[in-house]
Amino acid sequence: MTVPRRVGILTGGGDSPGLNAVIRAVTKSLILDRGAEVVGFVDGFAGMVEKQSRPLSLRDVSGILTLGGTILGTSNKANPFAYHLRGNADVSAEAVRYARDELRLDAVVAIGGDGTMSIAHRLQQAGIPMVGVPKTIDNDLMYTDRTFGFDTAVAIATEAIDRLHTTAQSHHRVMILETMGRYAGWIALYAGVAGGADVILIPEMEYDIEEVARVCRAREQGGQRYTLVCVAEGAKPIGGQHAIRQVVADSPDPLRLGGICGVLEQQLTQRLTSEVRRTMLGHVQRGGTPTHAFDRTLATAFGAYAAALVADGQYGRMVATQGGRLTSVAIADVANRQRLVSSDAPMVAAALAVGTSFGVKDVEFRFDGRTPSQLMT
Ligand code: F6P
Repeated sequence: MTVPRRVGILTGGGDSPGLNAVIRAVTKSLILDRGAEVVGFVDGFAGMVEKQSRPLSLRDVSGILTLGGTILGTSNKANPFAYHLRGNADVSAEAVRYARDELRLDAVVAIGGDGTMSIAHRLQQAGIPMVGVPKTIDNDLMYTDRTFGFDTAVAIATEAIDRLHTTAQSHHRVMILETMGRYAGWIALYAGVAGGADVILIPEMEYDIEEVARVCRAREQGGQRYTLVCVAEGAKPIGGQHAIRQVVADSPDPLRLGGICGVLEQQLTQRLTSEVRRTMLGHVQRGGTPTHAFDRTLATAFGAYAAALVADGQYGRMVATQGGRLTSVAIADVANRQRLVSSDAPMVAAALAVGTSFGVKDVEFRFDGRTPSQLMT
């Protein structure tokens, strides 16, 4: 097996707190432990197509552990197999030539979500040895319990719920907080539980507006004259549509969701005497420093593990964490798939146990597929 001498690195898709911590860990580990050279692509796969890259030294990655964003830049449009700036042409052969022949890279580490992993898988097939690192605030990548950035997004959303709580209480209002989470409701679920939301609405369970209104009314009548609703951007009413904020025509996934909090505000205002207000958190969830210490340690561990996979020649693999242990899974198995919240997720059961509503009449209360009484036997 040849020891990798030159290794590329890129960040793809939407940014996520901890990207710089991963870049730092991969670069330091490859330079210090393996004596390799590291080259960073600018703006994700766009840099591979446009021949934009720069060497990364120990000095370049010093002091970036706590920085939000990515020092390399990123793009959630650039796909060498359907390149947005060249009429969606397949320019992957050019990208491969640049990375392999011009830059003489032995491998490339791609830090990204399911879209990035799908491109990484195809580049691996096209002849570039690839290693993946799972990134997304949505925490929806297959076969890894966690992605870095999720803990930070949950912390930001939880703080927002805490702040909305006091104003909801003072004004006796229904307050709605909208989090990100297109197809998976992990951020809304975890922030909702951490912030003690009364109602959590996620994309995986279509909500019944009458049930949401019933919960708010019951709280009003029971003396708790305020309600906190935490809704994921991808949630929708039974038989209803996604709230679309924007269509980004040249993006591989053109729909940008957002605004379901406004729909809910209207629906609830029609049904309640209490006043209703909404807050959309948006990209605040993706900006700023990663949480100390969870996302910083996770990102560093992921980066160091990715460097070890490269050094071992274990290509076509993505770093993952399963049951508290670092491991790797085939990038091919992760590409273009999402890990959704299932109704037997322990956190769903925990939310139900403390009386949180998911906006539907009957959600089964199960821990790992077992009811609480089955757990006792
Ligand atoms: O996948 C991460 C994510 O933050 C989603 O939660 C959100 O729907 C989307 O990206 C927003 O994308 P953009 O930055 O293009 O608005």
